[in-house]
Amino acid sequence: MLKLINLNYGYTDGASRRSILQDCSYTFEDGRFYTILGPSGSGKTTLLSILAGLDSAESGELWYNDTPITSAQLYHYRRNQIGIVFQQYNLINYLTGIENVELAMTETDNAVPKNRREIAYALLEKVGIVQSKANRPISKLSGGEQQRIAIARALAANVDLIFADEPTGNLDTATEQEIIRIFKQLAEEFGKTVIVVTHSETVSQFSDERVLLAEGQLHRMNPKKEEAKV
Ligand SMILES: Nc1ncnc2c1ncn2[C@@H]1O[C@H](COP(=O)(O)OP(=O)(O)O)[C@@H](O)[C@H]1O
Ligand SMILES: [Mg+2]
Repeated sequence: MLKLINLNYGYTDGASRRSILQDCSYTFEDGRFYTILGPSGSGKTTLLSILAGLDSAESGELWYNDTPITSAQLYHYRRNQIGIVFQQYNLINYLTGIENVELAMTETDNAVPKNRREIAYALLEKVGIVQSKANRPISKLSGGEQQRIAIARALAANVDLIFADEPTGNLDTATEQEIIRIFKQLAEEFGKTVIVVTHSETVSQFSDERVLLAEGQLHRMNPKKEEAKV
């Protein structure tokens, strides 16, 4: 369970301060697929970087699995609990897909398997990248393929929290659907907690829970699917 309690965060531009998060509280349950919606500039990327331990709030608390993440623990939290997928994929272009995924396995304190390459191929297969594609340099792959590899890379450190910032922003609608199916599967079949920032109504409709970021706070937009069904 990932829990935020009364988070506050703002940016200072010269003399003026712009508040982005204001007493923002929310609980993200394990194994669910969340989407975060909100107008451009509402603070979605800022929120995600705080959740991912890339930045810390000015006040308030972030709890993961009943443990508060203090500033001393941020580095370990980020390194061992979090996988991130970006809109621009952010892969290393001159390496192959398989090399990108293997590299990520070394950037964690979590146990690294001896048969790294095998595990990396299996992860890639899980997201629909066959071996022949995994062996190509990133620059020779389509946007959709690169994003699949970025998802496999996010999983490489064997983490339970997967965050994505507008991961389908550069993809066509058909590819977007395939990528979203992967995120959904990560939550449903592999028990990951998946939090995806998106502009897309389509993407958000596939999630278990839609959350709106507005005026510095998170608001749940629809009831749980299970409840909606009964
Ligand atoms: N490093 C920064 N310094 C100052 N202002 C920033 C910084 N990063 C983002 N902002 C501002 O904070 C607001 C929220 O940004 P962001 O989190 O990127 O929103 P979103 O992802 O929802 O579009 C925007 O007005 C943006 O211009
Ligand atoms: Mg953003």
